Amino acid sequence: MKDSFLVTGGARLQGAVKVSGAKNSVLKLMAAALLAEGTTTLRNCPEILDVPLMRKVLEGLGCQVDIDGEVVRITTPAEPRSDADFDAVRQFRASVCVLGPLTARCGRAVVALPGGDAIGSRPLDMHQTGLEKMGATTMIRHGAVVAEAANLRGAHITLDFPSVGATENILTAAVLAEGQTVLDNAAREPEVIDLCDMLVSMGAQIEGAGTSTITITGVERLHPTEHEVIGDRIVAGTWAYAAAMTRGDVTVGGIAPRHLHLALEKLKVAGAEVEAYQHGFRVRMDRRPSAVDYQTLPFPGFPTDLQPMAIGIASIAEGTSVITENVFESRFRFVDEMQRLGADASVDGHHVVIRGIDQLSSTPVWSSDIRAGAGLVLAALVADGQTEVHDVYHIDRGYPHFVEDLRSLGAEIERITHES
Ligand code: UD1
Repeated sequence: MKDSFLVTGGARLQGAVKVSGAKNSVLKLMAAALLAEGTTTLRNCPEILDVPLMRKVLEGLGCQVDIDGEVVRITTPAEPRSDADFDAVRQFRASVCVLGPLTARCGRAVVALPGGDAIGSRPLDMHQTGLEKMGATTMIRHGAVVAEAANLRGAHITLDFPSVGATENILTAAVLAEGQTVLDNAAREPEVIDLCDMLVSMGAQIEGAGTSTITITGVERLHPTEHEVIGDRIVAGTWAYAAAMTRGDVTVGGIAPRHLHLALEKLKVAGAEVEAYQHGFRVRMDRRPSAVDYQTLPFPGFPTDLQPMAIGIASIAEGTSVITENVFESRFRFVDEMQRLGADASVDGHHVVIRGIDQLSSTPVWSSDIRAGAGLVLAALVADGQTEVHDVYHIDRGYPHFVEDLRSLGAEIERITHES
């Protein structure tokens, strides 16, 4: 648990990497397998810690789950249990995505509240309101969210904010509800489209995936399916920013470049050459990046999960950048660690102003979440000397073969295993 990465700065990243399936898709797709009795097969699954954690949650609900490399098979019983195992669920926030499928399938769901984390308080009010509109009662009891519905009915639901998780829980409940659900101000993230594609292949009736209005006509039952998980745009974006920061030349495969459109456009403005292919892209940079402003927003805006990478490139850019966080309240904790690496950054509310400097300087730093951890490694790649990045279990939760991929691109990075 206490492993760290020792990174020696200075290498120019060069070569090709292929990304695996998206973390933020696979966990929801695994949960969606609860909607149909029988065996659902998912391909292109990433080998990250969150997948076995989700297996534990599903096994606790009565499913059998086999993980065989990038293939995950989930066999769902005729009557899954409705109470998700408290300890399994509490370990990772994304497990809340079983709420929708369980309410639809069992008429009842008990899912431990994930609580806050390093990036903000992350309430579930929109998930609850959506299910209530469909006729469920929901309450918080003994640290868990409890939803009950003898009969879910279609409803017109308008989200206050296009929340990814609320959109997904409402979708996975509405597919088995009686009648039509219209979900307005829905999230448009590629992972939501991936979930809709899988649900449709299970027999669901869904229109408008990828737009702000999704219409779902409930069906009586769904059947198991085989589905390939989309590529991880956040991992792909991490490699894109690493290439630009190290003045490298990296080709990233396994990803639809349109899923990263704005993040790649920003790199062009910073001075990189970007070529998009059908299933990948190439980023080349041969000079110090120029300063660029960023604001995080729901898709197709700049992804909040790449905000640490934006701060990373801004910290060594020529000029001053303003980065505005609009999605999560506490996501700037990462800036403290960047300041320790020498970044000239100051936080003002949900903005951070960064005056680029020539080079960061190494010191031990601590990861606070998956993306902040990856962001610190990118910063370490352009710092002078050796930087030890601690608490890398966060990175292991979201980046498969992180060290191997970076090394194959020429980075000097090694994992240090601490005994205690
Ligand atoms: C998902 C992603 C995460 C990404 C985020 C935004 C997964 C496992 N995680 O998280 O990596 O950063 O989308 O793209 O897919 N909110 C409420 N009430 C609610 C629900 C959300 O206030 O009921 C707020 C949150 O606190 C946050 C904002 O809405 O400020 C966006 O959250 P949401 O889109 O729901 O993110 P997640 O689904 O949790």
